[in-house]
Amino acid sequence: MHAFRRLSLFSALALTLAGGLLATPASAQLAEEVPFITSPDNVTLEMLRIAGVGSADHVIDLGSGDGRIVILAASRFGASGLGVEIDPQLVQQSNRHARDAGVAGRVRFLEQDLFKTELAGATVITMYLLPEFNLQLRPALLALKPGTRIVSHDWDMGDWKPDETTLLPVPDKKVGLEKSSKVHLWLVPARVDGLWCGNGASLQVAQHHQQFEARLARGATLRQLAGRIRGDQLRSAPQADATLELHAAGDALHVVSAGGALSGLRGEFRRASGASCPG
Ligand SMILES: C[S@@+](CC[C@H](N)C(=O)[O-])C[C@H]1O[C@@H](n2cnc3c(N)ncnc32)[C@H](O)[C@@H]1O
Repeated sequence: MHAFRRLSLFSALALTLAGGLLATPASAQLAEEVPFITSPDNVTLEMLRIAGVGSADHVIDLGSGDGRIVILAASRFGASGLGVEIDPQLVQQSNRHARDAGVAGRVRFLEQDLFKTELAGATVITMYLLPEFNLQLRPALLALKPGTRIVSHDWDMGDWKPDETTLLPVPDKKVGLEKSSKVHLWLVPARVDGLWCGNGASLQVAQHHQQFEARLARGATLRQLAGRIRGDQLRSAPQADATLELHAAGDALHVVSAGGALSGLRGEFRRASGASCPG
């Protein structure tokens, strides 16, 4: 597609969204229309900083453009990386830039549709796409290993609210009305919805992304808890008389700490195999 048409579409979308007018769902047509616009250097750096990228990380940039995010992740932070990009010329350019930066051994660029990309190997996923792309990707992102960090330049993820957002000045921004960029970070929350049993207690958890409410029944005692999930850590909001912190690991919730009325609670809860906890 002609670069100008692509840019016009992106600008129109950005303006429409800035005005809060876009209410239509994603379409396959639009899913082919994200133009090549680079994240400025300060935004690229912030995307990696907010995710805490380090040498143990594997960063996947979905729609990698000229490769800048993955190359900086490798050259500055020692990470390995993969960029997937639909435009073959940009893939070639990325490979050249990686060689110039001396990181060709640690990064790869594939000419590939981002929606057909295997994401499970990533510890960090970065994106500068469009809102409907983010929403289409959301189920696959939420299914990743708890704690996987997702970073998006500008666009959010609907009612999956970011764990953190920073705002950066971008004086020469080419799209939209704002001369600034947002960088959003999400940590994939552990999936803890349902019934858990252990410690002679039952724990019924209702989850909405990083928020949870739980009903803990132990003997004749009933307690309502609510709190946040950060990756594989669940922490109840501080209450005057009870606190609970759990660590999620597959089908177990380990008690990390319990205080107040819950002190003495230790060990772990296991995911219930039936509709109630035994005895
Ligand atoms: C806004 S640019 C972002 C480039 C880079 N990530 C950055 O932040 O500088 C989006 C990129 O996604 C690419 N793209 C669009 N649709 C794609 C798809 N379905 N699969 C892979 N890449 C795609 C475009 O060609 C473009 O280079």
